[in-house]
Amino acid sequence: MMQFKNERDREDVLNSLTENMNEEFQAALQYICHRISAKGIDEMLSDSFKSAALDEMSHILFFSDLITKYGGTPRFTPWPIDQSPDVKAMLTSDIALEKKARERYSGQLERFAAYAELAGIIKNVLDDEGDHEALFADYLARLPGPAL
Ligand SMILES: [Fe+2]
Ligand SMILES: [Fe+2]
Repeated sequence: MMQFKNERDREDVLNSLTENMNEEFQAALQYICHRISAKGIDEMLSDSFKSAALDEMSHILFFSDLITKYGGTPRFTPWPIDQSPDVKAMLTSDIALEKKARERYSGQLERFAAYAELAGIIKNVLDDEGDHEALFADYLARLPGPAL
């Protein structure tokens, strides 16, 4: 069992892990919807949504496994997702999600720097989110017409 400095830290970590797990569910489900909707429009983009969705699924399990390991109970919230059929709207929503994730993980990386295992996992996930955001932004920049 991981040693926490105090009970407040333990609660803080478990609350953050719960938030992360649920946000990762939101991203995974949203990208699967976008993978399906983009299939008949842009094959390459559709594949990119799938690979991002699979990354997000790994992230869900990184965080849920830590909740269990640290003595918590995984708790699920509703996952509101963008279901737009329009590629530009999808990418705009996905980029916003990735930005939000990067901000969340950057903040947690500072707050939890003393906990090496946790910080290491957050750092790996943060790197993936950076890749996703860059990929989506690249697609969006290549689409014809003005940005939303
Ligand atoms: Fe993620
Ligand atoms: Fe991501």
